Amino acid sequence: MPRPQKHVFVCTQNRPQGHPRGSCASTGSAEIMNEFMNEIQNRALFETIGLTNTGCLGPCHAGPSVVVYPEGVMYGGLKKADVKTIVEEHLLGGVPVASLLVGADVW
Ligand code: FES
Repeated sequence: MPRPQKHVFVCTQNRPQGHPRGSCASTGSAEIMNEFMNEIQNRALFETIGLTNTGCLGPCHAGPSVVVYPEGVMYGGLKKADVKTIVEEHLLGGVPVASLLVGADVW
């Protein structure tokens, strides 16, 4: 397996309803994960982009949370349409999408 050029980690942590920390599952992380899968599949990026679902990344209040390496940047509050932007501008274009990154107080 070749080493991916970028690796995307999508928090899909779930917690019981009413939990004080909430969860990325409750704010739509499954849809975000599916959209990354669709984009990677449609663009045949399997060999260059890694995609992994993960547990809590920390800032549950700012989810759905996504971290991309090797840059080590975090996106938060993503909507389905944001995924295409991240794929095109960051994963393929090499420039993180500043408007979608969480603030320095979060990550
Ligand atoms: S549940 Fe996703 S960052 Fe905590």
